[in-house]
Amino acid sequence: MTPTPTREDKFSFGLWTVGWQARDLFGEATRPVLAGVEAVHKLAELGAYGITFHDDDLVPPGSSSTERQQIIDKFKAALAETGLVVPMVTTNLFGDPVFKDGGFTSNDRTVRRYALRKVMQNMDLAAELGAQIYVFWGGREGSEVDFAKDVRAALDRYREGIDLLAQYSIDKGYGMRFAIEPKPNEPRGDILLPTIGHALAFITQLEHHEMVGINPETGHEQMASLNYTHGIAQALWQNKLFHIDLNGQKGPRYDQDLVFGYGDLLQAFSTVDLLENGAPGGGPTYDGDRHFDYKPLRTESMEGVWESALANMELYLTLRDRSHAFRADPRVQEALAAGGVADLNTPTLDPGEDHTRLLADRSAYEDYDLEVARGKGYGFARIQRYAIEHLLGVR
Ligand code: GCO
Ligand code: MN
Ligand code: MN
Repeated sequence: MTPTPTREDKFSFGLWTVGWQARDLFGEATRPVLAGVEAVHKLAELGAYGITFHDDDLVPPGSSSTERQQIIDKFKAALAETGLVVPMVTTNLFGDPVFKDGGFTSNDRTVRRYALRKVMQNMDLAAELGAQIYVFWGGREGSEVDFAKDVRAALDRYREGIDLLAQYSIDKGYGMRFAIEPKPNEPRGDILLPTIGHALAFITQLEHHEMVGINPETGHEQMASLNYTHGIAQALWQNKLFHIDLNGQKGPRYDQDLVFGYGDLLQAFSTVDLLENGAPGGGPTYDGDRHFDYKPLRTESMEGVWESALANMELYLTLRDRSHAFRADPRVQEALAAGGVADLNTPTLDPGEDHTRLLADRSAYEDYDLEVARGKGYGFARIQRYAIEHLLGVR
């Protein structure tokens, strides 16, 4: 039986996902505008817990301050009525032509200053709505022409921007945590901070690095042919998985933003297993909202939009159930033990052992039975077979 989503499952959606009108590079919108208030009611009905947005998703650019306030008031009333929360907020620094060369890293200094002000204004709203996470997706931060972008200087400006905004959150007492979202390309030919690894390395250079983590998206890592589960495992290891964008992608091509799992389903299974159960040998699980960043198919009317929103949550819950069954299966436990999966938690050196003592240990090298080690099989094939059986529900 397909599980039913509830608020306790902490599912959230971007307003720009279910609200996507399906305007693409080749064609016009196929769906009407979806008001924030309606999205709140419908998502709450479906069992979601939260809604997120870019400043411009909620308040159309060009609105007067009175209009802006009216929209915000209605949105807040809908939240109060439904109990839906706003766990995360972000800024649109990509749609307006002013950002054609980026926001924080535009070659034009006036654009950079404008971008910072746009973020600060929206951080005030985010704080008012109780958002704990603020996301930075730098879709326009990048270039098509290597010679036209000084990447070293761009990273200086990126850092300057994030440092300033972190200070702003601290000084205002907002207590927000920032999450950088990597993406390799699209809309820019090459985007700065293209992968989880680049973003994690960048964060070490920030003044308030402790308040900055990442918001990795399934499809973005897969566009770069990377293993998403490994990426988020490293982020968890570094305590940097502050938020998550779950969706589906069929290998390295344009950003598809499919329903979660509608791409590499096996990897979606290992992703859910990691988020829910932690690494096989222990370690942290993810406790933030399970955020879906997907685009309902262009072929669909609003009915198909809500159908696919539900599909994200249902598939996640199904995979969660399957992951629990997988971990609890004695045959799986036996196979994991035989494969030495938990043995990797044993330190390579004895307590207090240094290189001198390692050098003195003849059993480690001189007397080591290489033939035995060379000839052994690890049994990972069996683990994979059992994983597939649990994924398909045939065990
Ligand atoms: C994409 C991105 C965006 C960002 C969002 C948050 O699909 O390329 O995921 O959807 O997540 O704009 O800023
Ligand atoms: Mn995407
Ligand atoms: Mn995203």
